Amino acid sequence: MKPVKVGLLGLGTVGGGTVNVLRRNAGEITRRAGREILVTHASARDLSRPRICDTHDIKLSTDPYEIVNDPEVEIVVELIGGEHPAKELILTALENGKHVVTANKALIAKHGNEIFAKASEKGLMVAFEPAVAGGIPIIKALREGLTGNKIEWLAGIINGTCNYILTEMRDKGRDFADVLKEAQALGYAEADPTFDVEGVDAAHKLTILASIAFGIPLQFDKVYIEGISGVTQLDVAYAETLGYRIKLLGIARRTEKGIELRVHPTLIPARRLIANVDGVKNAVLVEGDAVGPTLYYGAGAGADPTASAVVADIVDVVRTLTSDPENRVPHLAFQPSAISDIPVLPIEEVETAYYLRLSAEDKPGVLADITRILAQHQISIEALIQKEPLTGETHIPIILLTHKVQERELNAAIAEIEALASINKPIKRIRLETLG
Ligand code: HSE
Repeated sequence: MKPVKVGLLGLGTVGGGTVNVLRRNAGEITRRAGREILVTHASARDLSRPRICDTHDIKLSTDPYEIVNDPEVEIVVELIGGEHPAKELILTALENGKHVVTANKALIAKHGNEIFAKASEKGLMVAFEPAVAGGIPIIKALREGLTGNKIEWLAGIINGTCNYILTEMRDKGRDFADVLKEAQALGYAEADPTFDVEGVDAAHKLTILASIAFGIPLQFDKVYIEGISGVTQLDVAYAETLGYRIKLLGIARRTEKGIELRVHPTLIPARRLIANVDGVKNAVLVEGDAVGPTLYYGAGAGADPTASAVVADIVDVVRTLTSDPENRVPHLAFQPSAISDIPVLPIEEVETAYYLRLSAEDKPGVLADITRILAQHQISIEALIQKEPLTGETHIPIILLTHKVQERELNAAIAEIEALASINKPIKRIRLETLG
């Protein structure tokens, strides 16, 4: 059989890694795919830049449209990132009858519905394993391995940059800004690092995971997003004292009222396996009704780990080149005609437990006022710590863990407590999940 010809859009870290992995493991990959897979074309903005791969047998161009319009290329691998021109390039590739593999999480999260509709109309595949959690085969697991389950919820550490920052803050007592600079230097951060620290990158990935877990359309604009820039050294230390770790989690949960879709810093019990996922590593915990909890762990970024996912997708495409499009695994795991319109809940309707840190005047009756207001809102306290005042300070830190409460109710209680003359505004709040 003739080799399959692949064109790469982008020859940076992941593109270079893909060329290297395909070469290094060519024998094994051919035995699995049934055909040899060759990168024959690649585009890059600046051809004079040094590469991590050998490009002597690849036709190079600075114009990615040359690749999506080249009749020789059968599979286009989009590794440019960003929404434009990646979207136009993919749509052109589909229009020209080419299958697509993409690592572009922002693109799939925001324009995936349109792209998949176009691909289905043309009988083509758009595969996106590398878009979520780098080398961890979480799309494959959710879409195929867990297909017999009703997925109840999933929670993921899906941004390595944030996990690295939070790990360093906990282990070495370092400050947020200081660690961020180092995380950027490590090369994991997005081109715009606010996408990492403000939770946008994790929200892109959560949008994709939720869609294939529950069979709902991709709805990035419905995700509640809160990043880690407000997490302080103090909160990390208090969480540790109480037996918790703070992680940036992407959480998708099915409830009777609708789907919860949220990205925020979260206290989780230190004894959970996922709480011990440190540094730039990623992990996704999935609860299926039949299988129970399953945990997927590994490298969420980097040249070879992401290339591992790219190559897996290329092999999947090669294996299905001759199969009837109707019999392929659907892009979003569920048949397009069976996608559900179950609503995504606004954050005010989400129920979760909370960590609250207050700065209160050190005088009689203050604690009684706080607990009275919480009781009036039916908010039950799980744990409470009151710290000594620092020398010269008139206010003391009070740390509270609550039982589960609807966010709307908690907001009302916080507003009342913040109105007390004895409390400094704002009260710090971090959501808490037991993940049990
Ligand atoms: N910026 C991302 C991260 C890269 O830190 O996880 C992988 O998507």
